[in-house]
Amino acid sequence: MSKVVEMGHPLIKHKLTLIRDKNTGSKEFRELVSELSMLMGYEVTRDFELEEVEIETPLMKTKAQVIAGKKVGIIPILRAGLGMVDGMLSLIPAAKVGHIGLYRDPETLQPVEYYCKLPQDIEERHLIVLDPMLATGGSAAAAIDFLKERGATNIKFVCLIAAPEGIQALQEAHPDVDIYVGHIDEKLNEDAYIVPGLGDAGDRLFGTK
Ligand code: PRP
Ligand code: URA
Repeated sequence: MSKVVEMGHPLIKHKLTLIRDKNTGSKEFRELVSELSMLMGYEVTRDFELEEVEIETPLMKTKAQVIAGKKVGIIPILRAGLGMVDGMLSLIPAAKVGHIGLYRDPETLQPVEYYCKLPQDIEERHLIVLDPMLATGGSAAAAIDFLKERGATNIKFVCLIAAPEGIQALQEAHPDVDIYVGHIDEKLNEDAYIVPGLGDAGDRLFGTK
């Protein structure tokens, strides 16, 4: 079974509190989501492999370490995942970015795909799938299905807030995908919104509704 890593860092907890607040407007919400994504990126990249290289400091030659191995692909789930791209790219600037457009049908709660554009070599990359919210888990599971159908094998999922129901569903659908989550909330309500949650992440990011 995959691992679930819940963030314990005080800065992450503080910023999560700010984005939950209904009085936080879109500008501040966007900035905080980006900052949270960067802070979580630190944890998500913790197991990246290193290799030794020789460099020369102003004083002498020495051996030092650089990131080795596979290249990275960042895959936001539209729309709300877009808000997490810049923060993650600030840590991994050479990553390629693929987009998967999905929305959750309000009646059936099933994910509906409307866009998919991915780097050609996703099978060779560490893929980091981004979406602030993991509610029923349907959107994340469907996005990861698309990636696997196209050859991806090395995938992590990163979200800011998750419901226990979504974590369980995603683990059952994709037991090989580790989940990095800012905070695991109490439950889903009768409309399949996470509570206490933060409301509709896409609407809060982009000022719609
Ligand atoms: C939200 C969120 C996730 C999905 C989570 O997107 O950003 O993609 O819901 O719900 P689930 O785990 O039950 O599938 P939404 O469908 O509202 O689309 P949007 O980002 O375009 O607003
Ligand atoms: N999508 C959101 O944006 N928020 C939720 O609480 C659930 C799904």
